[in-house]
Amino acid sequence: MTDESTQDARAANGNLVTQLPTDQELVLKVIPMPADCNANGDIFGGWVMAQVDLAGSVLPARVVRGRITTVAVKEFIFKQPVRVGDILSFYARIVRIGNTSITVDVACFAERFRSQGQFVKVTQATLTYVAIDDLGAPTQIAQ
Ligand SMILES: CC(C)(COP(=O)(O)OP(=O)(O)OC[C@H]1O[C@@H](n2cnc3c(N)ncnc32)[C@H](O)[C@@H]1OP(=O)(O)O)[C@@H](O)C(=O)NCCC(=O)NCCS
Repeated sequence: MTDESTQDARAANGNLVTQLPTDQELVLKVIPMPADCNANGDIFGGWVMAQVDLAGSVLPARVVRGRITTVAVKEFIFKQPVRVGDILSFYARIVRIGNTSITVDVACFAERFRSQGQFVKVTQATLTYVAIDDLGAPTQIAQ
């Protein structure tokens, strides 16, 4: 996944802040709650992965307009912890449309509690979705 569309800088409060991507679409916003925490008190990585999977499916669903399923997740990187009360913004971009599959880059940015308006990149991943028919078999994507 390329990182060319984002630039990191330090805010006055020391937070590493990132400019939001200009070549990806905002596909999901969500705020994690205490029930989503792990034993450290940070947000459980599996919860974040589920949100990334949902966010990544938005653009393929728009193309396929039918059933899709996740076949692969690559390059899943947790760059910074996610905390209760963060406002998470998920950005996505289609990087490849194949015969039956669509590959998407997803990046997640957190606005920390009391630091809204400053975005910290917390997660990025590349996912592939497959268009499937009623029997669950791969089906051609009309383009
Ligand atoms: C997704 C699924 C229907 C694919 O069936 P399949 O018989 O393996 O399909 P194919 O081998 O023909 O591959 C279909 C497409 O997926 C792509 N693909 C398959 N494995 C892949 C992988 N590991 N990484 C990236 N793409 C992959 C193929 O390249 C192909 O894309 P293309 O047609 O655009 O070239 C089947 O594997 C499945 O049902 N998996 C479970 C999905 C699921 O339950 N997801 C939720 C996870 S809990």
